[in-house]
Amino acid sequence: MRIDVVTIFPSYLQPLREALLGRAIDRGLLEVAVHDLRDWTHDVHQAVDDSPYGGGPGMVMRPQVWGEALDDVLATPDLPARLVVPTPAGRPFTQATAHAWAAEERLVFACGRYEGIDERVLLDARARGITVDEVSIGDYVLVGGEVAVLVMVEAVARLLPGVLGNPRSAAEDSFSDGLLEGPSYTRPEVWRELAVPDVLRGGNHAAIARWRRDRALERTRDRRPDLLDALGPDALDAADRAA
Ligand code: ADE
Repeated sequence: MRIDVVTIFPSYLQPLREALLGRAIDRGLLEVAVHDLRDWTHDVHQAVDDSPYGGGPGMVMRPQVWGEALDDVLATPDLPARLVVPTPAGRPFTQATAHAWAAEERLVFACGRYEGIDERVLLDARARGITVDEVSIGDYVLVGGEVAVLVMVEAVARLLPGVLGNPRSAAEDSFSDGLLEGPSYTRPEVWRELAVPDVLRGGNHAAIARWRRDRALERTRDRRPDLLDALGPDALDAADRAA
């Protein structure tokens, strides 16, 4: 997969080269290019923003600069791209979004700052046949889209084939079955007088699976009842309902 990020703070995206993502890049599973939006300005001040029509606080990012930047970035390499614009006013980014995007050849992220990007930049991209997703990573306001891009790229990249050492890790995540994942334990068997639950040490795989499922149900009911409400009619069996 190829990922491009256009931003006025390229160094903010440096963590994309670390740890799991850095290894994916080194192994050729992921290609990442970060572009400085100011490279497409033509004035000495390299201005990227201006005051909003209609008044109000804050600044809006200029369409000319973004338009030229996206024209160039989308043109090379010649791969079908989805344009992603992080904004608190977007549709929620979820695990389902991450799975859908993991099937794309190319994602281009446009990081807005200030009060956002002039709306015509997105209208123009859509008019040219580009799929544009405006997405939010949660109901809070960040100062810009950069951190949201780090979050989304990490969520997508770990789903790419070969990126995780053990593909079961992604298959058995929180959200993969619509539930939160339950608790985990490792050695030692007793730590600060707290013992690992007996069932996990018993070797009865059916009992372990049942125990894990019950803890996931319990945790989801407690922390995210909205997720239980959203499950389809066949998601829970009789044993689940008894739990
Ligand atoms: N930019 C600012 N806040 C954001 C959020 N919650 N999600 C995505 N992009 C943002």
